[in-house]
Amino acid sequence: MAPRPIIIDCDPGQDDAVALFLAMSSPEDVGILGITTVAGNVPLELTQRNARMMCDIAGRPEIPVFAGCEKPMVRDAITAEYIHGDTGIDGMDVFEPQTPLQERHAVDFIVATLLATENVTLIPTGPLSNIGTAIDRHPEILKNVSEIVIMGGAMREGGNRSPSAEFNILADPHAANIVLNCGRPITLMGLDITHQVLSTRDRVARIRELDNPVAAATAGMLSFFHRYDTKKYGSQGTPLHDPCTVAYLLKPEFFKTKACNVTVETESELTMGHTAVDFWHVTDRPHNVSWAYEVDAEGFYELLTERLGRFPLS
Ligand code: BDR
Ligand code: CA
Repeated sequence: MAPRPIIIDCDPGQDDAVALFLAMSSPEDVGILGITTVAGNVPLELTQRNARMMCDIAGRPEIPVFAGCEKPMVRDAITAEYIHGDTGIDGMDVFEPQTPLQERHAVDFIVATLLATENVTLIPTGPLSNIGTAIDRHPEILKNVSEIVIMGGAMREGGNRSPSAEFNILADPHAANIVLNCGRPITLMGLDITHQVLSTRDRVARIRELDNPVAAATAGMLSFFHRYDTKKYGSQGTPLHDPCTVAYLLKPEFFKTKACNVTVETESELTMGHTAVDFWHVTDRPHNVSWAYEVDAEGFYELLTERLGRFPLS
């Protein structure tokens, strides 16, 4: 089967970076048409640079990288340096990448690509400002979107940035509302899933042993990530959020999902960005999302380790 064409829309971020590596390791499964970046974990000038750095490390400088929205559609920007560090990718050595930044705005790239290419899968792993803006301006692009696999939202796990909301949805709830109601097939990887895929010290050690530059960068970033989240959650490892999206494309059988309605809160300041997941179908709201609720975490880490081991030693 031909690789599935994808656009990864991200805000690297250590876990976004690992999602990029996982996608770049698997050209037989996914063809990366472009990487679009958005303000999120850190400001846009850093997320676009960080994405280009990952292309350098993975030996994929030909993948076009675009910078997109500097702020959410309606609200003020929020960032998360207290988790990701000032660079967004603390834990690895930062350098000036060779992979160029494309001149076009990320939203223009998304629109032009979706007008010209059929069956594209969108993989957003940051605030949904770029995708929401593209749909808002040109809803006709949706005909060529085959699926959207998003890292965002939470049900049983509650919020990680506010008591009610997960960071990506809280960072641009109005964009999330547009995307979740766009009418195309959507799979949501919320905290209920990502908190099951913990980067324990043993799992990170197995990645470090691969000893190639991609694995070294991954192990460094995950070790940095470890400190904050293990203290916060009292867990054995940090949740590896964003790579769940790419892993779902590679091995959908690792995930259990359920069709349900997910509605985003965009008005109440108290619960802004909350994802109201109608898991038990207690309303007659239409099913707009496949909500992921269970994952084979061991299979996930075996897959990640095997794929990262594909990169050359130097
Ligand atoms: C999400 O927020 C960011 O901190 C991570 O990169 C991930 O996309 C988890 O809530
Ligand atoms: Ca992210």
